[in-house]
Amino acid sequence: MGRTVLLLIFVALLAYYVSVPVPDDVEEPWKLAWETTKIKVVSDLASFAELLGISHFMDTMQLLMKLEEVPPTSDENVTVTETTFNSVPVRIYLPKRKATTLRRALFYIHGGGWCLGSAALRGYDNLSRRTADRLDAVVVSTNYGLAPKYHFPRQFEDVYSALQWFLQENTLEKYGVDPRRVGVSGDSAGGNLAAAVTQQLIQDPDVKTKLKVQVLVYPALQALDMNLPSLQEGSHFPFLSSSLMARFWSEYFTTDRALEKAMLLNQHVPVEFSHLFQFVNWSSLLPERYKKGYFYKNPTPGNSELAQKYPGFVDVKACPLLANDNTLRHLPLTYIITCQYDVLRDDGLMYVTRLQNVGVPVTHHHIKNGFHGAFTLRDFKIAYRMQNQYLSWLMENL
Ligand SMILES: *[C@@H]1O[C@H](CO)[C@@H](O)[C@H](O)[C@H]1NC(C)=O
Ligand SMILES: *[C@@H]1O[C@H](CO)[C@@H](O)[C@H](O)[C@H]1NC(C)=O
Ligand SMILES: *[C@@H]1O[C@H](CO)[C@@H](O)[C@H](O)[C@H]1NC(C)=O
Repeated sequence: MGRTVLLLIFVALLAYYVSVPVPDDVEEPWKLAWETTKIKVVSDLASFAELLGISHFMDTMQLLMKLEEVPPTSDENVTVTETTFNSVPVRIYLPKRKATTLRRALFYIHGGGWCLGSAALRGYDNLSRRTADRLDAVVVSTNYGLAPKYHFPRQFEDVYSALQWFLQENTLEKYGVDPRRVGVSGDSAGGNLAAAVTQQLIQDPDVKTKLKVQVLVYPALQALDMNLPSLQEGSHFPFLSSSLMARFWSEYFTTDRALEKAMLLNQHVPVEFSHLFQFVNWSSLLPERYKKGYFYKNPTPGNSELAQKYPGFVDVKACPLLANDNTLRHLPLTYIITCQYDVLRDDGLMYVTRLQNVGVPVTHHHIKNGFHGAFTLRDFKIAYRMQNQYLSWLMENL
């Protein structure tokens, strides 16, 4: 009897976990199903611990993610060290081969929804090594304060101060960097921070070094309209669902779950800020083929209290799509990667349109069978293809 019950529970759990849906046309679907199942188990554990009041969801997730960190170990081609820039911890990758001229440099910002991850994660460490080696470039991979311990603008400010430090003449000189060949890059929340600091930099008279390129890999760029077609479609996209994205966004600003609830209903923006919707209007900014039968509805205004308490979600430093055209037109050469099965797809697509509209040169790669997180997924063919394309672009343009 007991054994039958256990067996039934086991079968039910197995069915529940194996039923993780995977888009039809992805490569290596079984491998992806396995990875998403692992994440589902981990996040269910984290939700359970939160329900019991043991630990914040993000703290449990971050604790488990730490198992994927690797120490800063040099290899035959790249010297890896850790230091701080303006008290922000960074990991630096320096090519070992003798420099014949000044090198180019890439400042990298990891993803993880402003709550998770670090430069030490195996996937990021591997990417930074490859970048340093393949491009003969200095790579700085920065860390920053994470939610729930720190909220906006801490993440932005950490990244900006590390970047400011790096861009000083004497720092660039120390690492043998050519000040005309420095770029910023990041994925997901790191793409958000990359876009935000790049905007800040073009308006900062104190920083003389200007960026040559910005690279945004499936970036998060706005928290105003939580009803974009990709968010509506993405309730079950691999790794990042629409509801998890609402949690990440709200955690960036506060641990108060009221903001997340309002975001899920798309009723968090009060009428005082409705003029901002023009900057994220998917009806005018998305190419026709991505609208796919969704109908644009002007969002329902929410009450003013949330925006007063947590003004971050209407701040351009958190939502780079809210910048006006006069700011956008001064941005450097831009490379944006979007993926079809990604709740952030439309954020990236709308930024492509807005930058193109003001004449910023943009290279846009849309990965038709891509999904969020694919860029740094270990031992996946899609990751290597995306990274190779990215490295070739940087080779040519940085
Ligand atoms: C170091 O560079 C050599 C030559 O390009 C390459 O064959 C080797 O795989 C590299 N080692 C690592 C760890 O990337
Ligand atoms: C990155 O990871 C891949 C696969 O695990 C491995 O083949 C490659 O050598 C790694 N590259 C570096 C530079 O460590
Ligand atoms: C969004 O764009 C559509 C037309 O493309 C327009 O009808 C609608 O009023 C716009 N809404 C906002 C809030 O800008």
